[in-house]
Amino acid sequence: MDRSAGFQTTCIHGGSGRNPLGHVAAPICQSTSFEFPDTAEGARRAGDIAADEFYGRWGSTNAREFEALVASLEGADAAVCASSGLAIISMVAHAFLNPGDHLLAVHQCYSETKILLESLARQMSVEATFVDSANLRNFADAIRPNTTLVFVETPANPALGIVDIAGVAELVRGQSTPPVFAVDSTFATPYNQHPLSLGADVVLHSATKYLGGHSDVVAGVSAGKADPLWRIRERFSYHGPHLDPFAAWLLSRGVRTLGLRMQRHNENALVLATFLESHGKVERVYYPMLPSHPQHALAARQMTGGGGMICFEVRGGMDAALQLISSVETIKLAVSLGGVTSLITHPASMTHNLLPREEREAAGITDGMLRFSVGVEDAEDLQTDLEKALAAT
Ligand SMILES: Cc1ncc(COP(=O)(O)O)c(C=O)c1O
Repeated sequence: MDRSAGFQTTCIHGGSGRNPLGHVAAPICQSTSFEFPDTAEGARRAGDIAADEFYGRWGSTNAREFEALVASLEGADAAVCASSGLAIISMVAHAFLNPGDHLLAVHQCYSETKILLESLARQMSVEATFVDSANLRNFADAIRPNTTLVFVETPANPALGIVDIAGVAELVRGQSTPPVFAVDSTFATPYNQHPLSLGADVVLHSATKYLGGHSDVVAGVSAGKADPLWRIRERFSYHGPHLDPFAAWLLSRGVRTLGLRMQRHNENALVLATFLESHGKVERVYYPMLPSHPQHALAARQMTGGGGMICFEVRGGMDAALQLISSVETIKLAVSLGGVTSLITHPASMTHNLLPREEREAAGITDGMLRFSVGVEDAEDLQTDLEKALAAT
């Protein structure tokens, strides 16, 4: 389709365009095997790691459709999807790390991303350095001639730290052997941020979150330039993290409304972040589009909207925070994020509890902090719910 089309038009009409029967809603193809017209074609597909009509572990028609859709939204040459966000991060790490290499990553990221990268690095005899992502200087000090992968998450889960994507990309390009630069853009989505146009090589998402958007599918996806994407895809046929066709179909369906949902997530979150910041019982609010965010200027430069995630601290610390999340009604007490339903969680004891305290502190996570995934309900109803819950603290 026309690459200059608007975001929401691309959500609806982007993709492979392969639709010989003229389906408006794509069919689900569950077949794991495909009859070859002749032996030569069988041999050709066996040698093509991107063949969708070969064997289910190579991918499926529905997965290819979702991948093409994400590639068009990210302005990428190609995309590859996996059975979870962590599975795609694992494939990225396997694609670009070998014994003796160096991994440069960040403290400010999803807890299990850090645990995964640390443990893979140990097993692969790769040295790993995790830096405070707020300061570009930390990347410059830590990068080495043998750094092969630079991995960042922005905005970061849960405290919404922002990484200067263009700044890191410039540093990476200045190396004699430039490492691959990968950005986890889950919180931003392609609606609010385009890491590839800022110089990243690979962008990835936990598609479980905004891309799916309805809290009913677990998946991951990465998109980028042809060469790094090919190297990621090469890992798939023998690691086997492929996405089930029905899950891929749900994701393509979710993406059809991504622009509409993100517009509402952005609007709702800005209203509620502003409300929380003005409330006497709230100590601190982190939201990239609030001028009080320590990296607001950077966020405003590289993002077109703040997204639907807010992090905040209630006066009274952990007890008050736990009391608040026990009192909400419309907003649900649950982990995960990015769906149409508003969810609230306590990172220190729920999503980031596997990290030791000092690592949580390095990631900017305090005991009294709450992570609020603002859904697409009416903002006034969410505000009323928060007002009542704050009154109960
Ligand atoms: C920013 C980010 N990246 C990756 C992941 C992992 O994704 P998944 O849970 O789909 O494996 C998460 C999960 O919360 C996340 O928040």
